[in-house]
Amino acid sequence: MKGSVVGENRLIPLAPGYIPGIGHAGALLKDPFRWLRRCVNSDIYRVKVGPSTSYLVTDVDMVQEILSNSDGGFDKGGPLFSSIRQVVPNGLASCPAHVHRRQRRLMQPAFSPSAIKNAEAIMEAYAEELAESWVPEQLVDVVSEMNRATLHILWGSLLPSAESPLADLEKMGPAVSDLMRGILIRTAIPSKMQHPLLPFNRRFLQAIDFIDTATRQIIRSAVEQNISEGLLGVLINSESRDREGFEEELRDQIITLLVAGTETSASTLSWALYRLAANPNLVDQIRSEVDALPSDRLSISAYRKELPATLNFVSETLRMYPAIWMSSRTSVSTIRLGSNSFEAGTDFFFSSYQLQHDPRTFESPEIFSPERWSGQLPLSSRPGFIPFSGGGRKCIGDRFAVYEILHVLIAIVRRWEVSLVSPGTAIKPRRLAANLTPERLFLRIDKRP
Ligand code: HEM
Repeated sequence: MKGSVVGENRLIPLAPGYIPGIGHAGALLKDPFRWLRRCVNSDIYRVKVGPSTSYLVTDVDMVQEILSNSDGGFDKGGPLFSSIRQVVPNGLASCPAHVHRRQRRLMQPAFSPSAIKNAEAIMEAYAEELAESWVPEQLVDVVSEMNRATLHILWGSLLPSAESPLADLEKMGPAVSDLMRGILIRTAIPSKMQHPLLPFNRRFLQAIDFIDTATRQIIRSAVEQNISEGLLGVLINSESRDREGFEEELRDQIITLLVAGTETSASTLSWALYRLAANPNLVDQIRSEVDALPSDRLSISAYRKELPATLNFVSETLRMYPAIWMSSRTSVSTIRLGSNSFEAGTDFFFSSYQLQHDPRTFESPEIFSPERWSGQLPLSSRPGFIPFSGGGRKCIGDRFAVYEILHVLIAIVRRWEVSLVSPGTAIKPRRLAANLTPERLFLRIDKRP
């Protein structure tokens, strides 16, 4: 029976926030981060969303076991991935294990060191353009500016030579947001409540329609023009274009990159700027490193050693605000986790946010402290630090993300002082969002001293 437990796991406690009839859907939809911060008294919890029982795993070693066993014992699955697959049946992030190995091999060249170095020229150019477009005393809508930046960088990296890569690029950001929000809400609420006329559902359906049409247009024009450069060129040339299903698969990969690779980096950048505005002493440390970089530098990789405080700051931002805050897997055979045994088909959740805010793993987790990373390899894989996940399904764009975050931060810190508009007002995460992103964040921009 799906989700049933064997042996002693009846002792697994229900996660806090359970309401009979609603299960945990209320806690998840209302304030999932508060809920996750409460899940620190057991290594594993029972979670009830809809009719099924899933398990939230909070023990670092058990999560590691799930991640490193992505070919044998666990596969991408559970309600979240079922919802994603309705939109993107065969994208790298959501495809099942039996097709993943092949897809990852095809996508890997697009994220090779040389491909990322080429993408860095686009990252730097757009970061400079963005920072130059601001004016002193401006109030910047940070989340929307960062979303625009990461969308332009991703689209420019996909198709570097296109004059105007996509006329509707400005509409693409909100469409990606609506798509992801729709996926999340559809995961948490019963299907009978998913009426097409409900506002979230209407926006979700319009978003799919827009993204689908735009993506197919781009693929057809890139194939017709025989594009060979950029990430799209690499993907188009990685396989025979005559193969059946070629366009469908490419469409899924581009949508995957848009969904996985824009709001994620934009959210991280938004929180980073918020932290710089709230902690001016951090700006001084970062600026002293950034000012010492040569102005004609193109690649960050050559200068990573010169940026220890900046990299510690990015690590701490990824710890405190991991954009992809929850993920899930399904067991494909009977498995043991700790002293518990689970049947094939059991759904497990784990959360980078929960692990990275767990006092069992990080001391004083609610304090933003880049120094906690001092003396460690920057962005190192410390137990319980999984902003990019791990194992065979680790984020393929992790280096791309870190470099674009660095390019954008460097361009801003070099020119601008950022400050809070209302110091003391807490910035809350957006509700019902697939990514951990600020609800509303305006910062004041002034010329740096
Ligand atoms: C700060 C920014 C980012 C964060 C925090 C992040 C985080 C993650 C995480 C946690 C996963 C694994 C999800 C899971 O295990 O279920 C993932 C997968 C993935 N990410 Fe990222 N990501 C970021 C940026 C990017 C960028 C910039 C790209 C592409 C340009 C990208 C492309 C992907 C893809 C394609 C996958 C699926 C990999 C696979 O299953 O083989 N991500 N990301």
